[in-house]
Amino acid sequence: MNDKQLVALQAAKYVQDGMLVGLGTGSTANYFIDELARRQREEGLKVTTVASSTISAQKAQSLQLPIVALEHISGIDLYVDGADEISPDKTLLKGRGSDLVKEKLLAKAAQQFIAVADESKLVDYIGQNFVIPIEVIPFAWQLTKRSLEALGGTGDLRPNAAKDGYWITSHGNYVLDMKFDPSLDAKSLNDLLSNTPGVVEHGIFYSLVDAVFIAANGDVDERWA
Ligand code: 5RP
Repeated sequence: MNDKQLVALQAAKYVQDGMLVGLGTGSTANYFIDELARRQREEGLKVTTVASSTISAQKAQSLQLPIVALEHISGIDLYVDGADEISPDKTLLKGRGSDLVKEKLLAKAAQQFIAVADESKLVDYIGQNFVIPIEVIPFAWQLTKRSLEALGGTGDLRPNAAKDGYWITSHGNYVLDMKFDPSLDAKSLNDLLSNTPGVVEHGIFYSLVDAVFIAANGDVDERWA
């Protein structure tokens, strides 16, 4: 069993009968979905799920997990998702894909949010290994980019896979992939990005997790906030 699977299985132990569980997106989150389905099949676990992306919704459906749409919920019991970076104060960077809008809604709506990752995701500061994805309303992208540049940001619109156009998110928006001065702390950057007109959502998950579970060499370290 690899570390991503191990940490996902550990988080799945926190799922109890009757819970409404948020499903994350990515390879680690996929192991969590698989484990929920196994527990439903083999242990008779009774849960309802809500997905952060179309791909996770399809996976849950194909495994016969009961699923409800985000627009029909007002809160969830538990959300389990991966991350691209995790800093020492448990800020996450997420959204390498294009589903950070739903991911952040579920993170905020959850009674408990557990981030699951292997140790390769640990960083000293947010933005160390990845650019910060910032989802913007298409018609506002130039104005928003200029505002972000005024904050010291550098970067550009994310190209599509064929490199002949721009990446479109699940919600029909563009993504600006930006770098900022590493001396800017996560809270300040989070606040600045959230307050910039034209920004729909961004990949900094500040003060949202209840715990990060980190797997390394076959062991899981549960770090509760
Ligand atoms: C998607 C995410 C993922 O959780 C993040 O990219 C981690 O992915 P993986 O578990 O495949 O390493 O934030 O928006």
